[in-house]
Amino acid sequence: MLRKRDRSERLSLSRQGSNTAPPAIAWLMSQALAHPDLISLAAGFTDNDFLPVAEARELVERIFGESERARATLQYGPGVGVTRLRELTAGRLERQDGQAPGSLDPASVLVTNGSQQLLYILTEALCDPGDLILVEDPTYFVFLSIMQSRGIAARTVPMCPDGLDLESLDRVLDRLRREGELPRLKMLYSVTYFQNPTGISTSFEKKRGTLELLRRYEADAGHPLYYVEDAVYREMSFPDSVPAASALALPEFRERIIYTGTYSKPFATGVRVGFGLLPSFLHEVAFNIKSSHDFGTAHLLQEILVEALDTGIYDRHREKISRGYALKAQAMVEAVTEWFPPEARFTRPEGGLSMWVELPQTIETGPESSFFGETMRQGVLYVPGEYAFADDPIRPCPRSSLRLAFGNTKTERIRQGIERLGAALRARC
Ligand SMILES: Cc1ncc(COP(=O)(O)O)c(C=O)c1O
Repeated sequence: MLRKRDRSERLSLSRQGSNTAPPAIAWLMSQALAHPDLISLAAGFTDNDFLPVAEARELVERIFGESERARATLQYGPGVGVTRLRELTAGRLERQDGQAPGSLDPASVLVTNGSQQLLYILTEALCDPGDLILVEDPTYFVFLSIMQSRGIAARTVPMCPDGLDLESLDRVLDRLRREGELPRLKMLYSVTYFQNPTGISTSFEKKRGTLELLRRYEADAGHPLYYVEDAVYREMSFPDSVPAASALALPEFRERIIYTGTYSKPFATGVRVGFGLLPSFLHEVAFNIKSSHDFGTAHLLQEILVEALDTGIYDRHREKISRGYALKAQAMVEAVTEWFPPEARFTRPEGGLSMWVELPQTIETGPESSFFGETMRQGVLYVPGEYAFADDPIRPCPRSSLRLAFGNTKTERIRQGIERLGAALRARC
């Protein structure tokens, strides 16, 4: 934990410096470190045993086996990203979306330091303090931290099993229009595949419906309303699931779609390479901001991915881990089914790294709750669901859900952890 800042230190900070709280997850991680025996179902990490060690060694050897290429790789690379990686990325998305080759322009790809960097850059490029972003309810809590630190407010849209509730979205937009708030709205942020935290995937029709609604309200906003499709878990699908096409398969909306994706999650989270496809004018703005951040994503890491994609190593690895995560998710679902009380409602993951459980409202799960305290004493850590709900003046914050990650916990420990959580829950139902 950080020590308390004294007055003069506080005065030295910018507004953003003071507003940037340590991410909620950092506190959870510090608990896990302080109590090594804790069964952590909190961290959204990938499985250490699944990391491609031998593959990475081979890839690096291939790159350094050619001295010219090695030299180039050890130099700064193009700030927008390595050309071959941008081409491979555009081609990959075309195939995933069932689109004709050449329908996506590699020039629209910006390679970033994980997709996380792009999410941050987007808020810098589009939002001033006091602006608004529409988010799913619940949503990726680290994105909420970015918004909070940058003074951007959220309006929430409830979710259905196939993505955003479009009637509610229409109502929220209409309300913003009536209140004269639409000019403050800049984008809608949606995690469309195996959403973190709920596991929900957004259907293609919902993507189209969302874009149509946003378009309808643009005249009152006075500027474009962007649809940010965060597809970070798209390549983390389990073997039997068939992910829908992305919004990029709707060329008539291309100028309003910002697609963010990653190679980091499916391959190796330490290889911090993500990417975005952006409308051309925004691509330029985002690139300018990124250049001020870092002159470009690490060249060596990008070359590792180029090699992994070109040789097929990336896809073979992805298939292997997909089976591994499916088995872990299944173990977690079976344990929840066995040990949790029947009142608990939960999603069955079809991809991603976590599952979502909603409990009766009488059971609060926040970090100050007696339930959280008891489960810590029982040696189990989860992410309190309330972290994933934005502050929104139009609804009270739900406080009775849990996000349970199966990514980096061994199957036997997952079962033990769920059994302990279940015992604490049954005592309260
Ligand atoms: C919903 C979501 N978006 C984006 C990210 C960022 O991932 P990365 O920077 O590794 O691409 C994460 C990471 O957990 C995430 O859960």
